Amino acid sequence: MGKQARAIVDLSLKDLVKDLNKAYADEWLAFYLYWYMSQVVSGKAYEGIKQFLDKIAKDELEHAQELADLICKMGGLPLANPMDLEKNANAPYMMPPKNSSDINRIIRVVTEAEAQAIDVYNKIAKKTFGKDSVTYQLVTHILSEEVDHEEMFENLLER
Ligand SMILES: [Fe+2]
Ligand SMILES: [Fe+2]
Repeated sequence: MGKQARAIVDLSLKDLVKDLNKAYADEWLAFYLYWYMSQVVSGKAYEGIKQFLDKIAKDELEHAQELADLICKMGGLPLANPMDLEKNANAPYMMPPKNSSDINRIIRVVTEAEAQAIDVYNKIAKKTFGKDSVTYQLVTHILSEEVDHEEMFENLLER
């Protein structure tokens, strides 16, 4: 970010980098959780859900990349140590169900994770609205994808 780009941000950049790093940590935990569950899921209906989890895991990884890019642009650094991811996340890591064929339980876990993500991005969107358009644009883009994720998983649950 150049001088003028920094000057138009009407919030503390340091504070924003902190918020974005917390969301960055959330995304890695979500990526790992979904990716892990897509590896181990078993049982009758496993194939569909495996593909689904795999696709959403990729979206979460993309969110982590987009956040890392913005953090760097702001002059910050994304968390370097994996040990810091859970410490800095907005919510503790949700353990995948022990029973890998319990699809309903898996869907409940991801629906809960998506609901948390929606809250986090909604908060950052409200904070940056009219004050930091670049961050606002990124977080509303991510927010709309989390909204889609929640809906996709809720639909699976209702079936
Ligand atoms: Fe995400
Ligand atoms: Fe998501």
